[in-house]
Amino acid sequence: MNTPFVLAVSNRKGGSGKSTSAVNLAAEWANRGSRVLVVDLDTQGHAGFGLGITPDKGAPTAHDIFRDPTLDISDAIVPCTWANLWCAPADFLFEGTDERRDPGLLASQLRRPELAAKFDIVILDTPPSLDQLLVNAMSAADGVLIPMLPHALSAEGVKQLSRLFYRIATTSNPGLKLIGLLPIMYNPRLKHHQSVVGDIVRQFGAERVMRGIRVDTKLAEAFAARKPIRYFAPRSHGALDYFLLADELAQMWGWRKGGAKDTGAQVQQKVS
Ligand SMILES: Nc1ncnc2c1ncn2[C@@H]1O[C@H](COP(=O)(O)OP(=O)(O)OP(=O)(O)O)[C@@H](O)[C@H]1O
Ligand SMILES: [Mg+2]
Repeated sequence: MNTPFVLAVSNRKGGSGKSTSAVNLAAEWANRGSRVLVVDLDTQGHAGFGLGITPDKGAPTAHDIFRDPTLDISDAIVPCTWANLWCAPADFLFEGTDERRDPGLLASQLRRPELAAKFDIVILDTPPSLDQLLVNAMSAADGVLIPMLPHALSAEGVKQLSRLFYRIATTSNPGLKLIGLLPIMYNPRLKHHQSVVGDIVRQFGAERVMRGIRVDTKLAEAFAARKPIRYFAPRSHGALDYFLLADELAQMWGWRKGGAKDTGAQVQQKVS
């Protein structure tokens, strides 16, 4: 049986574009025909919010399994308005995991055959912290994508995350791959951005540094409107950048399922 590809979108630095990337990549791949589940592991609940999910009071959440491992994360999964897209929303009231909790809790939940049969891709939106939730996400993931602002101060967050990545990849989850670093609000004409991205390329290799997402206030507006950018402002730079990123990643990993509804060239035409 095929198991879904599990992608953790992580950076311990706050406001680096994790939730925006999780929501918009999910929408891109869902539109291309993959069945995509977003698991919102951040108690801020931004991924669920951006996908238009308003959980009923007392409804199951993604965090329930960390309180009671006998619960089933599938009970928390709800469909989004758009085809092929589901979300397990966060619990806003969740107050941290017991450090002794099994780091493999989430991994074993995602491997359950009933869940694995339903999805092609699982995207984990992770909190801006180095806690058991992040360890669980890394332990469950096949790959990690690190969105980062191209500022000097971002380097420390990336360093901390890569230390955790190597610890988990050399112990409990040897299949874990660093998919790439994704410059967010990137302007290749700015010397400072060039220099930060240049450092990252030297450190991680050019093949691991994605082309990046430009500044686009439409991305923030789409989030406030609780829609992925492709449905909120399909002709925006943000929509084009996430469209191209989804293709870049899909090609890297051979994820593409079904046919894309529109090609990169068609989107370019719409945008220009
Ligand atoms: N390319 C972009 N251009 C303009 N604004 C952006 C862009 N990407 C993200 N934003 C905005 O930046 C803010 C932070 O983004 P986001 O919430 O995705 O970061 P995060 O890493 O998930 O934050 P947190 O660590 O708090 O979970 C949001 O208001 C979002 O709308
Ligand atoms: Mg977030």
